Amino acid sequence: MATTIHILNGPNLNLLGQREPGIYGAESLEDIQKTCDTVSGKLGVSIEFRQSNHEGELVDWIQQADQASAGIIINAGAFTHTSIALHDAIRAGSVPVIELHLSNTHAREDFRHKSYISPVAQGVIMGFGGYGYQLAIRAMCTLLESTDSL
Ligand code: DQA
Repeated sequence: MATTIHILNGPNLNLLGQREPGIYGAESLEDIQKTCDTVSGKLGVSIEFRQSNHEGELVDWIQQADQASAGIIINAGAFTHTSIALHDAIRAGSVPVIELHLSNTHAREDFRHKSYISPVAQGVIMGFGGYGYQLAIRAMCTLLESTDSL
């Protein structure tokens, strides 16, 4: 059975394409998902791609992913900057987590400079728009290869 990577997306990312395209790009989340399917297929892994506007649902998915997948890529949206619950859910798990953002949050408002995800993530990818999703899948595969989990 192919290794599975969970790609979890937080609040307002369902609006990609319409939402502040100057910051987040013109691609919809569905477009990004299609590219992720193609890239993961080429790399021989499968992905579980999800989006929720609800913090508790994201907590549930992190807990499930820890049981069902080899790694988690998470763009937690605004919960990145507020959620101790997401921090704790990641901390409680054991699979590697890559934090992902379309924009470079450090080049934006001060309130986006703090991340509750970064201290519990293996690494962070930000500022590359939708292309960051591909980078994150590749980075996760390299990480899993290096730990013999792939
Ligand atoms: C984001 C950055 C967050 O600050 C913001 O709240 C988002 C999207 C990004 O992908 O750049 O919703 O996570």
